[in-house]
Amino acid sequence: MNEVVKHVDKPQDESAEPVIFPVEAYISEDYAKAERDKLWRKVWLQAGRVEDIPEVGNYITYDIHADSVLIVRTDADTIKAYHNVCTHRGRRLVDTPPGQRNARGKRTHFMCGFHGWNFDIEGHCHNIQQQDDWQGKLTDERSRLGKVLVETWGGFIWINLDPEAEPLRDYLEPAASMLDPFQLQNMRCRWRNWTVFDCNWKVALEAFDETYHVRTTHPEFNAFGDFTGWARPQGKHSHIGYDAPKGEEDNSGLEENKAKLRLGIGDPRTSTAQMQKYTWEGVNTNTTQTLVDVAQTLPEVLPEDTPPAEVLRYWLDTAREIDAKRGVVWPQVDPAHVAASGTAWQIFPNQQIGHAVNNMLCYQARPYGNNPDKCYFEVAVYELYPEGEAPETEWTYAAPEDFPHVLRQDFSNMAAVQEGMKNVGFRGVIPNPKSEGAVVSLHRNLARYMGTGTPTPLD
Ligand code: FES
Ligand SMILES: [Fe+2]
Repeated sequence: MNEVVKHVDKPQDESAEPVIFPVEAYISEDYAKAERDKLWRKVWLQAGRVEDIPEVGNYITYDIHADSVLIVRTDADTIKAYHNVCTHRGRRLVDTPPGQRNARGKRTHFMCGFHGWNFDIEGHCHNIQQQDDWQGKLTDERSRLGKVLVETWGGFIWINLDPEAEPLRDYLEPAASMLDPFQLQNMRCRWRNWTVFDCNWKVALEAFDETYHVRTTHPEFNAFGDFTGWARPQGKHSHIGYDAPKGEEDNSGLEENKAKLRLGIGDPRTSTAQMQKYTWEGVNTNTTQTLVDVAQTLPEVLPEDTPPAEVLRYWLDTAREIDAKRGVVWPQVDPAHVAASGTAWQIFPNQQIGHAVNNMLCYQARPYGNNPDKCYFEVAVYELYPEGEAPETEWTYAAPEDFPHVLRQDFSNMAAVQEGMKNVGFRGVIPNPKSEGAVVSLHRNLARYMGTGTPTPLD
């Protein structure tokens, strides 16, 4: 677990030409309806975490547009997924409790509430009342639950509603190989909340896949540094990262400063301490208590004028050692790989994984039926815990105004973007070719599935 993992892939070349694309994908009801068949029933979707169903019989459900999937652990090494619908007359088999994001529990059988058909965890139906009335036609093949493709990667459970789908690993590359060294499967949730926005799911996701907005939407961060960044398409997916701070472009000792765990500007001892404290209190993501605590000691333990590379090294090494003593072992990842991997990956179509060696921040947006003006939005924050000490968490609803301050700043743009794009005078979306390339990548790939909306060169 502690070996140095070297895996540095050159980011895919891109022609970051300026483009424009229409707003149809965000506001059209016909487009939202068409997404069901052309998109959501074709792609791999992140439906939960492996640790959510640790024991045989543990199950969760996952809803996407009109469809619902039942995911069950059937033995220590096997997870199976079924269409969450009774094969008799189509009642949803497992209901989502009111106010919950999904169903979750443990059962040996799933009994339909309508006429009592009873399915075991392998999907077979037993003890059907008056089965003879079907005159022998009610075979196991006819009555059993329909199967859904399911695989795991990174500690996540993924489903695909298309029986002909390519294997998950092929779908996820190159994101999977770039993220493997971070050992995301060892992380556990610190908190996870879901909410509903008055905007399209793409508007919600795109608020988090670029750093171009930081200067204006999060003005407090300007005191800590320059958060300008890049974006690179990577097949279906894309990733983003920060530019090296000015003056550090050639300083290989600070490769990691392009990553998520980075220093503040000015006197890095004090600015890093302040930035960590602000991040912890203002958003509770992207860092851990150990990193925050060690950062607070930097101004005392390191002399003034300590070179930035040494401040970074001391901060990360000390936090790593403290964590190791309590049984929290960070993976060793080559700093060049950390820098090349960036700060977050957008997994097509609706997930973002913001990775680091000891924590991650994940966003997912889901459609709200055929309504293009609403979406479900989910935030999950993970870190490494000592064996057996991870907190028990559930998906908990939070109103947008009840999220941490920095996220509320992001949320404040959602409905306003959705409404603004409907304005008759809006001529189309023109993302920053360098730092908003993930937005362009999403729409290039969406256009391949949807057959409409391809970004075109801006003239
Ligand atoms: S619909 Fe499920 S038993 Fe009839
Ligand atoms: Fe933001």
